[in-house]
Amino acid sequence: MQQAQWLGHPRGLATLFFTEMWERFTFYGMRSLLVLFMTAAVVDGGLGISEKDATAIYGLYLGCVYLFALPGGWVADRLTGQRNAVMLGGAIIAAGNFLLAVGNQTVFFLGLVVVVLGVGLLKPNISAMVGQLYKDRPGGERDAGFLIFYMGINIGGTMAPLLVGTIGEKVSWQAGFALAGGLMILGLVQFWMTRQHLPAVIPIVRSPEERQRSLRQLVIGLAIFAAGVAAVASGAVSITPVSLSQYTGLAMVLIAFFFFGYVFLFGKLSSEEAKRVAVIVVLFFGAASFFMGFELAGSGFTVFARDFTDRSLFGGSFADGQHPASWYQTLNPLFVVLFSPVFAALWVQLGRRNLEPSVPVKFGLGLIQMALGFVVIAWAAHLVVQGGEGTKVLPVWLLLTYMLHTFGELCLSPIGLSAVTKLAPPRFTSQMMGTWFAGTALGNLLSGLIAGHLGAEDIQHAPDRFLMIFFIGGGIGLLLVLLAKPIQKLMGGVK
Ligand code: PHE
Repeated sequence: MQQAQWLGHPRGLATLFFTEMWERFTFYGMRSLLVLFMTAAVVDGGLGISEKDATAIYGLYLGCVYLFALPGGWVADRLTGQRNAVMLGGAIIAAGNFLLAVGNQTVFFLGLVVVVLGVGLLKPNISAMVGQLYKDRPGGERDAGFLIFYMGINIGGTMAPLLVGTIGEKVSWQAGFALAGGLMILGLVQFWMTRQHLPAVIPIVRSPEERQRSLRQLVIGLAIFAAGVAAVASGAVSITPVSLSQYTGLAMVLIAFFFFGYVFLFGKLSSEEAKRVAVIVVLFFGAASFFMGFELAGSGFTVFARDFTDRSLFGGSFADGQHPASWYQTLNPLFVVLFSPVFAALWVQLGRRNLEPSVPVKFGLGLIQMALGFVVIAWAAHLVVQGGEGTKVLPVWLLLTYMLHTFGELCLSPIGLSAVTKLAPPRFTSQMMGTWFAGTALGNLLSGLIAGHLGAEDIQHAPDRFLMIFFIGGGIGLLLVLLAKPIQKLMGGVK
C-alpha cells in the first residue's frame, strides 16, 4: 500500500510539524511576556520584581527547559515511549501555562517549574520522532524533513509574540498566559486526531523488573526535585534568583566536566573516537557562548524595546499610542523562515564548488555574526545615552541586531546538532546529543545573568557591556575560524 504523503514527505511529518508549531506558539508567546510581566509594577498587574532578578529567573527557566531534555529523553526511552511522552508533555505544558494565568506570585513560579517539566518531556522526543519517520529513507530526504520541521517551529515563534504578546501587554497578562495554554491544547487535539500517521510505537523490550526499577528511579528523582523546589519556595533555603542561577550554571559546567572526563577515562574510546569527542567538547562551549548572547532576545533586548525604542509605528491602534514591546521577538523566527532556504541553497551552491565551509568555520561565523549584532545594539545604546533622558531610537537598530543574530543561528544551530550525531561514538549518541542541549542550556542560563547588568538603571554602562559581549563572542568565533584546520583534522573525515 502507498504510504500517505504530505508535501512529498511521510504524512506523520504533518502531525509533528503542527504539534511543534502550536507548542512553540505557546512557548514563545509565553516567553515574549515573561520578563515584561515580572518587571511590571504591581499597580500595572505585574510582579514588581527588579530587572536583575527577573532576567536571572528568565535565564534559569530557559536553561532548565533545555537541561530537562535529558531526563525527558530518558523517560520516553524507559517508560512511556515517544508518542505518549509528547502527549503527556503537551498536557503538562498547557497546565503550567494555566497556572501562570492564575495571578498569584507563588502559583506563577510553580507554573514555570511545571512548564519546564512539560517542555523537557515534549521537545527532545518530538524531534527524535521526526528522525524516526525517515528511518528507511535517503539522508537527503531526512535533512529536508528537518528543514520543514524547523519551519514549523519558527512559524509558531513568529505568530506567538504578535498574538499572545499583544493580548498580554494590552489586555491583561493573565489573558496572555491563558491564551498560550489554550494554543497548546489545540496542538494536542491535532496530535491526538492524526496520531495514526506516526510510526507504531516500537516498545523497547525491557523486562518488568527493569521497568519497575526505572519507575522507582523516576519517582525518587521527582521527589528530590520537588523537595528542592519546596525548600526554595518555602524560604527554608534562602537564596536569591541571581545566586540560584549562578549555582545552577556552575553545576552544569561541573556535570559536563565530569561527563566528558568519564567518557575520556573510562569510555574505552579508540584514539579516533577520543579526537572526535574532543571536537564535541569544543562544540559544547561554542554553543554555550553563542546562546549566551543570542538569548538576550527575550530579556535584555525586550527591555531595550520597551524603554528605549520608539514604538509609535502602528501605535495608532493602541490606547497608549505604542506597539507592544514583545513584538520584537517576532523578528528572529520571521527571519529564520525567510532566510533558511537562502542558507540551505548557499551551502549547496558552495558545496558544488567544493567551497562549503567546514563545521568549525560555520561555528566561528555563527559566533562572529552574533557578536556583530552587539556592535549594532551598542551603537543604539550609545545614541540613547548621548541623547539624554527620554531618548528613544528607531526600531531599525533592533531589527538589524536580530537579523545578524538570525544569520548566526542559521550558521551554527542546525549544523551543531547534526555534527554531534555524526561525531559521537555510536554507543554514546544519545548522551552526546544531550550534551548539545546542555551546552544550549548553559548559554541560556548565562544570558539571564548578563541581562541583569543591562537594565534601564544601567543604561550608562550598556554600550560598553554590549561591546564586551562583542569582544568575547567575536574572539571565540575568530579563534574557531583560525583553528578550523586542526579541529577538522581531529574530526577524522566527518563533514
Ligand atoms: N528556535 C529554536 C527552537 O525553539 C531554538 C533552539 C535551538 C532551541 C537549539 C533548542 C536548541 O527550537
